[in-house]
Amino acid sequence: MLAVSRIMEALADKLAIPEEEKGKWALVGLLHDLDYEQTKDNFEEHGLITAEMLKGELPEECLHAIRAHNARTGVAPDSVMAKALIAADAVSGLIVPTALMMPTRRLSEVKAKSLKKKFGDKSFARTVSRENIMVCEELGLERKEFFTIALDALLPISEELGL
Ligand SMILES: [Fe+2]
Repeated sequence: MLAVSRIMEALADKLAIPEEEKGKWALVGLLHDLDYEQTKDNFEEHGLITAEMLKGELPEECLHAIRAHNARTGVAPDSVMAKALIAADAVSGLIVPTALMMPTRRLSEVKAKSLKKKFGDKSFARTVSRENIMVCEELGLERKEFFTIALDALLPISEELGL
């Protein structure tokens, strides 16, 4: 969640989201999976319950992004924030196992090129949706650029991530 939050902040920077909005982006990343434990057996409600829990605490824009990050809710990700959350969530899911595959198991070893390779290897981290990673294009970012942004965002917190 910390990783997704950091990537969301970096995306907000890249997309020139106003300074006062950035905190919302970081919070959405941090809190979007709050109902994870409760929705293990009813995944179509994943995101909906979180949004319910956070009602009144976060603006509707954020609640929408949280609902929409799970395609199974049927909520269309028709905002920049929702698209960013989907892409950030997916790319973090690719970065962490890629780092763990490195000889030193360190994030600092992972390059955009390493991610590209793992992206193409369909048997690697197979639950990570490549399609969701490619949502970066809807934000105007090419895949490689997106990988670089995400890696740069996580490097300063690699210790907290245990990578
Ligand atoms: Fe999720």
